[in-house]
Amino acid sequence: MVAGDKDKNDNASYLQAAERFAKSEIVEQKNCITCHTIGKSGGTVGPILNQVSNRRPLDWLRKWLKDPNATKPGTKMPNFQFSDAELDNALSYLKDMKRTVESEKILAANPEPMKAGEALFKAYDCYACHRIGDQGRFIGPNLTWVGLRKPPEWERIWLKDPPAYKPGTFMPNFHLSPAEIAALTAFLHSLQGQHNDAGRKWESITAFILDARPRERGRLVAERLACWSCHGENLAGGIKNPNAKPDGFVPAINSAYLDFSEEELQEKILNGSMPEKLVPDGESPPFACPPWKAALNDAELADLLAYLESIAPESAKWEFK
Ligand code: HEC
Ligand code: HEC
Ligand code: HEC
Repeated sequence: MVAGDKDKNDNASYLQAAERFAKSEIVEQKNCITCHTIGKSGGTVGPILNQVSNRRPLDWLRKWLKDPNATKPGTKMPNFQFSDAELDNALSYLKDMKRTVESEKILAANPEPMKAGEALFKAYDCYACHRIGDQGRFIGPNLTWVGLRKPPEWERIWLKDPPAYKPGTFMPNFHLSPAEIAALTAFLHSLQGQHNDAGRKWESITAFILDARPRERGRLVAERLACWSCHGENLAGGIKNPNAKPDGFVPAINSAYLDFSEEELQEKILNGSMPEKLVPDGESPPFACPPWKAALNDAELADLLAYLESIAPESAKWEFK
């Protein structure tokens, strides 16, 4: 390879491609930028698109743009009813929005796995969907506390092939090598709330702008701690927890406000709770409810309870009273 070849593919070219797309007639007409960051600016509703072709093959992107709802039912991304010519045009931009990730160099330059993992996290732009502190977007679970809630063995299985572990998940398969997975896992496990205050600060500014009531502030707290990463979307359950009583799933908590007294809830949330085994001499369930003491102050705990109250089913609340 001659030096000139490499330049075409270096780290600036994906950003130039993103800037070209940002100025294209498609983005201008359809206003993709209200929801997506493309190049240096844009909205925060959807993933950052600058490196989208690092994680999505062209056929996936074609299908997505044709009908987002077919891939992710209920998505906020509209169906733009593209013509075939418009689709080809959009894809010709998206395919260049791909960064060459020189993972061997990154691994060699960072002998400490945690540091290598941090560099890979940036290089693959995991921030496109995930948040740590006040950085990144909101499509995947917030990772500020991921090291507290998930064991490294599980992270390794997840990162290898997310759709294989959980069919239908929106997290793409990055086809990471075992060395990359080991480094990313070390970095993820190190995330034990060091960036919590940055997230908190962002929330209080957001709450101020939105004039948020306790239950909305509580929703932001639940997002930061990513309760949904175990209790499922809308905290309605559905996440497997093999060999956990009573049914091998993490419980739904959207009606927890009705099932427990406030004192019981506070105690469970602050101190955590370990599920019992379904088959006593079987393996321990991979997930337990972590103790959230270190993550919550009194005001945040009260807001979180207000949020849990607000999502409890109306009919049951009515009967309850
Ligand atoms: C109203 C907000 C909105 C608009 C406008 C919008 N999108 Fe999206 N888009 C989303 C959301 C949200 C997602 C992520 C899926 C989800 O969480 O529902 C997404 C996902 C995507 C993805 C997949 C990204 C990935 O990392 O997998 C692509 C590609 C994409 N959008 C392209 C576009 C393009 C091109 C336009 C303009 C023609 C556009 N979007 C306009 C909200 C929007
Ligand atoms: C296109 C969006 C997207 C991108 C990009 C993405 N993820 Fe995810 N990720 C998700 C979603 C969505 C989930 C939640 C999975 C589910 O329950 O379906 C998830 C889940 C996770 C989890 C489990 C989190 C938890 O709290 O339990 C980890 C860890 C993770 N992703 C790491 C990564 C890493 C590392 C990268 C970069 C190599 C990455 N993700 C890139 C969307 C994304
Ligand atoms: C790592 C996965 C995980 C995360 C993240 C998590 N939980 Fe849990 N949670 C569990 C498991 C597993 C149980 C069941 C424990 C048991 O059986 O004693 C549980 C139980 C609970 C219960 C009691 C529900 C019941 O029916 O027994 C409440 C309330 C609860 N969690 C609240 C929360 C809140 C609030 C958050 C976010 C701040 C959260 N959890 C985050 C795994 C998790």
